Amino acid sequence: MVPAGELMSINIIQAAELMSNNFQIVGEEALNKPKLLDLYCGAGGCSMGYSRAGFDVFGVDKVAYRGYPFPFIQSDVFSFLENNDVSQFDVIHASPPCHQYSVSTVPQRSAGRTFVDLVAKTRFYLIQLEKPYVIENVPGSPLKNYIELSGGMFGLKVIRRRWFESNLTLLSPSSVRYKRNSVSSGEYVTVVSNSFGSLALASDAMGIDWMTRREIVLAIPPRYTEYIGMQLYVQLN
Ligand SMILES: C[S@@+](CC[C@H](N)C(=O)[O-])C[C@H]1O[C@@H](n2cnc3c(N)ncnc32)[C@H](O)[C@@H]1O
Repeated sequence: MVPAGELMSINIIQAAELMSNNFQIVGEEALNKPKLLDLYCGAGGCSMGYSRAGFDVFGVDKVAYRGYPFPFIQSDVFSFLENNDVSQFDVIHASPPCHQYSVSTVPQRSAGRTFVDLVAKTRFYLIQLEKPYVIENVPGSPLKNYIELSGGMFGLKVIRRRWFESNLTLLSPSSVRYKRNSVSSGEYVTVVSNSFGSLALASDAMGIDWMTRREIVLAIPPRYTEYIGMQLYVQLN
């Protein structure tokens, strides 16, 4: 059994070394960072985690979020992929919209409303590129061979379960059991729509300090992709 938060990897010694050094890349490697394309980057929750894991990150989103902290192009993902050469990127991450599967849209979906579902189309495009990829989405989405990450695995005060599919090997920390009343008791907070408390509390719980209220509700805690990024980094090297 691997303790919560500890990286279990096919190259566990290398990964443990990276983690114990707080993953600082120095010397020649710093000049040759692997490049990661973050599709549907939002205001950069996933991007930040990958950057912390040692990747040079470039984002694409149809909306330009003011505080996105990395180089960025505003575009529809599919027109971007159709019109640009992405061969320079070592890894492609995608966070397609999750409304069709999210618990937060259950009332609307029960009433017959459907939301755009880009998961299968995104996977189709990524497979054609023949590059390492990661697709992130919510539980219940049609991801394949996914791992599940949640905040308790990283000592965060959000539960925020998310699935990650990849064509590389991804291993997850041991699962965390959440008590039924873990939100009402104040042990964890939820950061959905506009119904959460203060932005300061949400920022602290998510490990995100640069987003607005509108941005943070869409975001993934950077700790998740930092953890995944470290596994990718080890496998790419
Ligand atoms: C779940 S949010 C991404 C959150 C982000 N990964 C993060 O961690 O902060 C999904 C994003 O997809 C973008 N989006 C939706 N459809 C798109 C499309 N066809 N092309 C580009 N971006 C799109 C939305 O603007 C939104 O920012």
